[in-house]
Amino acid sequence: MHMDRTFQGSPTPGPNATTLARAVGLTVDMPVQLGASSVRIVDGVDFAIGVGERVALVGESGSGKSVTARALMRLDRAARVSGRVEFAGRDLLALSEREMTQVRGGDIAMVFQDPMSFLDPLMTIGDQVAETLRIRGVGKADARRRALAVLDELRVDRAAERLDAYPHEFSGGMRQRVVLAMALVGEPRLLIADEPTTALDVRVQDQVLDLLDDVSARRGLAVLFITHDLGVVAGFAERVMVMYSGRIVEDGSVDSVFARPRHPYTRGLIKAVPRIDQDLDRLYAIPGAPPPPFARPTGCAFHPRCDAAFAPCLRDVPAVLPVEGGRAACHLHASQGA
Ligand SMILES: Nc1ncnc2c1ncn2[C@@H]1O[C@H](COP(=O)(O)OP(=O)(O)OP(=O)(O)O)[C@@H](O)[C@H]1O
Ligand SMILES: [Mg+2]
Repeated sequence: MHMDRTFQGSPTPGPNATTLARAVGLTVDMPVQLGASSVRIVDGVDFAIGVGERVALVGESGSGKSVTARALMRLDRAARVSGRVEFAGRDLLALSEREMTQVRGGDIAMVFQDPMSFLDPLMTIGDQVAETLRIRGVGKADARRRALAVLDELRVDRAAERLDAYPHEFSGGMRQRVVLAMALVGEPRLLIADEPTTALDVRVQDQVLDLLDDVSARRGLAVLFITHDLGVVAGFAERVMVMYSGRIVEDGSVDSVFARPRHPYTRGLIKAVPRIDQDLDRLYAIPGAPPPPFARPTGCAFHPRCDAAFAPCLRDVPAVLPVEGGRAACHLHASQGA
């Protein structure tokens, strides 16, 4: 039993992992266009990612996964980010914008939800991969050599010849590898991958995941993998964090969360994963829809959709408590302890 993860105080990574990154009480408020008020998108999230650990962040659309990821890298200028974000012992929220630029593309790299729009159609593949290094002061020849090495590592065939090719000469899967190469060439210790395979067909998606799996293992690279596809999580991640309406409602090892989900929301997500032996018209969907952040229900934000809800769920935000193999924020577990 791993009962050592307390939600208040310091979140820890999976067993036997050394902490690489940590968010404590991470909160993100976004300004509302009209008027001076702001809306709380991410509401006090705690988690840790270990060195070389692969952690998935899952939840329905709008739950705050991307905003959380972008807050770690301080990418949204308008966002008010509070709480703590630590990376290798440094407080990222206290860094100057210049220092933060060194962290991005250095220790922490990110691949986005829409990688295709990330490539410059007028620039060669080689130059685009080398650019991350050039910005950081690496010489031209050296940057090109390292770009080639990363494309090789990502199994781009005839990479040496293709350095001078343009994005339109590449297939979707190959372009995705180029985007990955741009993220990896700076030798990050943490890669944040925000739905990097969503736009790809299933076969190509599997190839990219295999690659990421290899690279992460070989390099000891930690990956925060964001997806709404629980099917992908099972094969790739060691640990999973489930987000609902700006909060983490459950986390734990993939094995324990899949075998014994504690939160009714997690149970719903797992039930909604399509199985090959299933008729499409019998696919389960969690009833209702997630609330917008400005109309988050009182108590447990999931209560209007939860068939197990009882009085406390309407009133009190459930504390995130340790359960066997992880943590859960659900009143059903509050009294039992596990
Ligand atoms: N810059 C912004 N200003 C105001 N609200 C925002 C901003 N960015 C995102 N939001 C809102 O914050 C909520 C969370 O958005 P986010 O993009 O993090 O969701 P997500 O979990 O990544 O969803 P998806 O699976 O669709 O990518 C949404 O309600 C979204 O409309
Ligand atoms: Mg997103």
